[in-house]
Amino acid sequence: MSTPRTILYTGKGGVGKTSVAAATAVRCAEEGQRTLILSTDPAHSLSDSLQTELGAQPTEVGRNLQAAEIDAQHELTRHWKGVQDWFGEMLMQRGLDRISAEELTVPPGVDELFSLLRLQEHHASGEWDVIVLDCAPTGETMRLLSFPEAARWWLEKIVPLERAILATAAPFARTVLDIPLPTGAVFQDLQRLSANLIAMDAILRDTAHSTIRLVMAPDRMVIGEAMRTFTYLNLYGYLTDAVVVNKVFPRGVGEYFAAWREHQQEQLGLVRSAFEPVPVLEVPYFDREVIGAEMLARVGEELFGAAAAGRSGASAILHDTITQTIESDESGATLRLTIPFARKQEIGLKQVGLELIVTAGTRRRTIMLPPTLAAYQPTTATYADGVLEVSFSRGE
Ligand SMILES: Nc1ncnc2c1ncn2[C@@H]1O[C@H](COP(=O)(O)OP(=O)(O)OP(=O)(O)O)[C@@H](O)[C@H]1O
Ligand SMILES: [Mg+2]
Repeated sequence: MSTPRTILYTGKGGVGKTSVAAATAVRCAEEGQRTLILSTDPAHSLSDSLQTELGAQPTEVGRNLQAAEIDAQHELTRHWKGVQDWFGEMLMQRGLDRISAEELTVPPGVDELFSLLRLQEHHASGEWDVIVLDCAPTGETMRLLSFPEAARWWLEKIVPLERAILATAAPFARTVLDIPLPTGAVFQDLQRLSANLIAMDAILRDTAHSTIRLVMAPDRMVIGEAMRTFTYLNLYGYLTDAVVVNKVFPRGVGEYFAAWREHQQEQLGLVRSAFEPVPVLEVPYFDREVIGAEMLARVGEELFGAAAAGRSGASAILHDTITQTIESDESGATLRLTIPFARKQEIGLKQVGLELIVTAGTRRRTIMLPPTLAAYQPTTATYADGVLEVSFSRGE
């Protein structure tokens, strides 16, 4: 059995994630691949886009193509019920009413995370050549990427201590803190959940098969968020193999939108500079909504057709290396950046707030540094074998 190709689309709200994901899936199916598209966004719109009624289990949409909208509430209950009951009980004992307690026991975004866990079984089923994921807006999804790290920590550090914690802390918790301790069942839930998170993470981090594609509109704020997301993805070791700029005003958009089109073209320049060498795929703003097979085929053609930057096929890995990595310890941090074919003398660096601007001759890259580096200043930079290494230390 071969490992399925997994493509995850994410981006800010309303930029066109669902449309682009559905168009990709339709195109993969047409190319003869057994394709599944899953929506993990609790506010589903995939059925509208595909014009087919969908449920939590895969439904046939066309030749080689099935789709499902995962039921977030169901997944939440499945994975979190034990923890929720215990935590809710504790909050209620401290005087909170039931409704508020129930709300507080579900951290924001976990419903999407739990939906994403469904990826595992489809990935393992052997039924699919390609799995496309249509995700919720980035803000939530990105925060979730750190969960597997937390899960690993939990499994390594806390689980082995379970018995000891229960035995020694129970009397203390009961008499001094006046809170119920988690039961064995809660521990078991968390343990199973942690194992699931780690397994899902392993699928998404398998850069030979899984990649992330960032969808954005050509607006400064949307691009800014996509850049931050890109930094996080790189940071956590996920491979971004393409960025999609959707809703670009085409040539001949008319006088009314002429200035706006010009502004968008400038923003496209920023996108290329921020994500280089990751390919940038463009989709024009169409004259009507993207709904149904015909419009999805048009989007697919723009993305992966003969004239497009992604012409090697909808499921091809369009870029195969993680272009920037950041490692940090107490004393500082090191940023490594792939900048092919530059000459050492022509490389320049400038930091403005959290943006690091790297110039190499006429090329320019804008990198959004993670907030943890806010207090750091670049100190030294070296360039060798196409890799720029920038060292940061804490500025006094
Ligand atoms: N290139 C385009 N031209 C015209 N309309 C488009 C284009 N791309 C998407 N749309 C329309 O924009 C709206 C939002 O698109 P879509 O639902 O794909 O975005 P989304 O990022 O998935 O949104 P959400 O964050 O709500 O999930 C839809 O009505 C869709 O038909
Ligand atoms: Mg959507």
